[in-house]
Amino acid sequence: RALAAADASPFPFRELPAGSDEHHHVAEGHDAEVLIRWGDPVLPGAPPFDPHAQTPEAQAKQFGYNNDFLGYFPLPGAADPAGHGLLAVNHEYTNEELMFPGLGRQEGKTAFAGMSKHLVDIEMAAHGGSVIEVRRDGDRWRVVPDSAFARRITATTPMTLTGPAAGSARLRTAADSEGRSVLGMINNCAGGTTPWGTWLTCEENINYYFTGTLPPDSLEARNHKRLGIPGNLYAWGKFHERFDLGREPNEPNRFGWVVEIDPFDPNSVPKKRTAMGRFKHEGAAGILARDGRYVVFQGDDERFDYVYRFVTDATVDRQDKAANRDILDRGTLSVARFDADGRGAWLPLVFGEGPLTPANGFRDQADVLIETRRAADLLGATKMDRPEDVEANPKTGKVYVMLTNNGRRKADQVDAANPRPENRFGHIVEIGPDAGDFAAPGFAWEVLVRCGDPSVASVGATFSSATTKDGWFGMPDNCAVDSQGRLWVATDGNSAARTGRADGIWAMETEGAGRGTAKHFFQVPAGAEMCGPYFTPDDTTFFVAVQHPGEADEEDLKAEPATFEKPATRWPDFDPTLPPRPAVVAITKRGGGRVGT
Ligand code: FEO
Ligand code: CA
Ligand code: CA
Ligand code: CA
Repeated sequence: RALAAADASPFPFRELPAGSDEHHHVAEGHDAEVLIRWGDPVLPGAPPFDPHAQTPEAQAKQFGYNNDFLGYFPLPGAADPAGHGLLAVNHEYTNEELMFPGLGRQEGKTAFAGMSKHLVDIEMAAHGGSVIEVRRDGDRWRVVPDSAFARRITATTPMTLTGPAAGSARLRTAADSEGRSVLGMINNCAGGTTPWGTWLTCEENINYYFTGTLPPDSLEARNHKRLGIPGNLYAWGKFHERFDLGREPNEPNRFGWVVEIDPFDPNSVPKKRTAMGRFKHEGAAGILARDGRYVVFQGDDERFDYVYRFVTDATVDRQDKAANRDILDRGTLSVARFDADGRGAWLPLVFGEGPLTPANGFRDQADVLIETRRAADLLGATKMDRPEDVEANPKTGKVYVMLTNNGRRKADQVDAANPRPENRFGHIVEIGPDAGDFAAPGFAWEVLVRCGDPSVASVGATFSSATTKDGWFGMPDNCAVDSQGRLWVATDGNSAARTGRADGIWAMETEGAGRGTAKHFFQVPAGAEMCGPYFTPDDTTFFVAVQHPGEADEEDLKAEPATFEKPATRWPDFDPTLPPRPAVVAITKRGGGRVGT
């Protein structure tokens, strides 16, 4: 009987024991090889990585820091589309204490006093994204050197603002009197890939990059406060005026958008798509609606913030990819309300409708988009436990919402969709769109799983009883749905001190008798978080991103502060002269076949 049950599992691989150490681990029968690391060459002429002699010019040609989202694009015309393509990679943020020798670690979240202009310029070049050409060569993936597609995007790459907010007076600065041209993208977390072959990359915690003050009762000071600006974490404003609010009060309004990039044209200008709203975008995973319009789901990763959906006005042209070039500039942005009876509604954020009028300080759609959060507040959207990835499953017709945690939710603030006070371990909500139409205005929903250790009654976790001691997890963050409709969850926040296990990937059953069963598949090295899960179209390769390996565990009071000299691990090189390096890992099944079988 037990054997028959195991055979029926969509995840028949042998489970990886949970734990935490300096290495990465993958379930038996798979290989997990490092593909590219922070500092490896991307552009021609990139010098070899030397953290002791790093320069902004070198970093701008090398792979950036803290790889997050990964998107794989098969090369058109390739003999093996699942073995030769482009990989688009977000470089979300920088860990100064691990990147720079001798800097040490500054307590508290304030701009590092030790940061010089030289170091700030290196970290600005380590942000943004990379496009690399990758090829499977037998059992191993390799980066194609000197590829014509290779690209680095940084915090200074010229970009265009498009859509309803472009040109707004609130987007104009001394450097850009038109409000249409921005330098760079920052804190790009997760994202998405579109059926017309572009990369959506999402600006998340943009508040950290701004310092300085504005008169507290001014319009922009109130607007910025809703996004936690100024966040005062990075020292960029000391050396670059545009990150100092006192000098450039509108610069923050030019960040916090979804950016669309054509990875096949390294000279294309990235476009910040303002129609999709401005907030702390986690991701932008999309799917075609029944009528052919494109639907993009988006989480706003903050305690008590919202889940959004964008639906294009036009339908996607499947024959002519170029016809979809600016399709994301026109559409309807909505925010989710989850009702106690298991129903829900998408509330449109449209200027002039409901409370989104001049009486509430909105003069046009640009104002609604620049202040998306305030508009959503007025519509009565449901305040969630930090919405991260939101991904649709074309096989089941469902949409999965990763809610990572919310330690600040009080007992009198719980609701049906966020049922736990002090939600330390997060949960996953499943949305079932009405009539199976991803563009429908209404939906049913239920909690798929409350995360955490099921053996501790007070945690209230709801993994199935088939879930082993290795199979449960906390803090769901990113997710991927493979071509068979199987859900894979990546976590951010597990550690030896918190959950007795490092972050990683867990396979999650959503259908039938096994619904709610999770199974451990991949483990990151100490201090890292798991990002970027993305499958090749045939599921034979699973790309994952190991972010900030070696970082200190904030909850482990006995842990030493991690620095360049004393990291929690020196993964992946284990060279005593090198710091740990964020890196992309390619997972394949030994001997071939689909990953996770
Ligand atoms: Fe960058 Fe919400 O994680
Ligand atoms: Ca994330
Ligand atoms: Ca996270
Ligand atoms: Ca992180």
